[in-house]
This record gives sequence, C-alpha cells and structure tokens, in this order.
Amino acid sequence: LGSLVVAVDGTSGSGKSSTCRAVAERLGLRYLDTGAMYRAVSWWMLQHEVDIYDPAAVAAQAATPVLVSGTDPRNPTITLDGVDVSAEIRSDAVNGAVSPVSTVPAVRARLVDLQRAIIGAGGIVVEGRDIGSVVWPEAGLKVYLTADPTARARRRAAEAGTADVAATQESLLNRDRIDSLRAVAPLTMADGAVHIDSTDLTLDEVVDLVVGLATAPA
Ligand code: C5P
Repeated sequence: LGSLVVAVDGTSGSGKSSTCRAVAERLGLRYLDTGAMYRAVSWWMLQHEVDIYDPAAVAAQAATPVLVSGTDPRNPTITLDGVDVSAEIRSDAVNGAVSPVSTVPAVRARLVDLQRAIIGAGGIVVEGRDIGSVVWPEAGLKVYLTADPTARARRRAAEAGTADVAATQESLLNRDRIDSLRAVAPLTMADGAVHIDSTDLTLDEVVDLVVGLATAPA
C-alpha cells in the first residue's frame, strides 16, 4: 500500500471528505483535499476584490497566493501566504465563488501542478472532481462517489448547522452544474472508476467498501 494513490471524485456533498480522511487513517496514508485548494484561491480572489466572473482577471492572479496544503488526515490544514484559512474557505461567499473560479484554466493548471507535486511518490488518498480523469489517471484505485441531492443537502446542512436544507441543496446543485458543464476537466466518472452511491449507506459502510477495494489483490 506504500505507494498507492486512491483517487476519489464526485459531486458536492457526497461524503468525499469524511470518507477519504477515514480511509487514509485506516490505511496509514496521507490525504489531500483538492477542493480546499480551489476554495483557498477563491477566498483570496474575494479578499483582493478580483472580479470572479472575469476569467482574465482571475487568470492574472492565479499564481500570486502562496498555497500550502497539509496532508495529515487527522488535521488537514491549508495556508495562504502563511495564514491558516481552513475555516474561512467554508463560508457561503466561497461556496458561491469557487465553481466560477475553478473554470479558469490558469487556476486549474497551477493547482494541478501543486497537486501532482504533493502526490509525488504516492501513499495518499486524494479527493476532488478530476483526480482520476486528469490529475492522476494512473491511480491504483479510482472511486466515483455520489448520492441523491436531498441526502447530500441534508448532510451538508447538518454539518453547517443550518436548518435551510432547500438553500443548501440549491447551492450544491448549482456547483454540480458548473463543475459538470465546464470546458476544462469537468466532473466526470473516470475510466476504470468504481461508482459508489452513498445515499443509503452510512459513512462506515462507505469507508469499509473503499478500504476493501484498496486492499483487495489486483
Ligand atoms: O470538494 P469541494 O466541494 O470542497 O470543492 C469545491 C469546488 O472546487 C467544487 O465545486 C469545484 O468547483 C472545485 N473543484 C474542482 N476540482 C477539484 C476539486 C474541487 O474544480 N479537483
């Protein structure tokens, strides 16, 4: 398992983060949340009043913030110019900005370079939208994780401590739409990926499934 790369892609709120962190802990692997990287860049653009709907303006600043991603599944921090922004990147403002920012090719090129450098020799569980298709197509295990929109919205709303499940669902579906339709690296099930629908599964059941796939003889 030492050099294994597990790529987990899927829709917003399908349980990727909880699943990947638990799988990494169980298998003694590192963990990388690529969504957090797109969120951090988006947060930086908002802070610096870059018009997130102007792709040229976003592209011009894509390489400016210094981004460092931690890979400890127990405490996956992310820092921007040395400041930990793990909490800030979960705001509603970032939820609204991240999919438009993620459509900009210069942003993707820069973050994919960083992601490949971190994945390096392997031994890591990586979550995102394009890991199995673009970032690391040679991953030893590729999982495509989905769930019904209502189940995803209920889980996200509970995590965020909000009662407004309808608004949460609208925000998730809006991100799915932009992520699936964009020209560069759209959300898609990669060749060779195993599809897991978590709608009627508990977190432990999904983790057991992924650990089983990762440790099964090839
Ligand atoms: O995974 P998470 O929901 O935090 O991702 C936030 C957003 O970042 C996604 O909706 C998508 O727009 C973008 N993203 C991406 N490619 C990835 C990971 C995330 O475009 N590999």
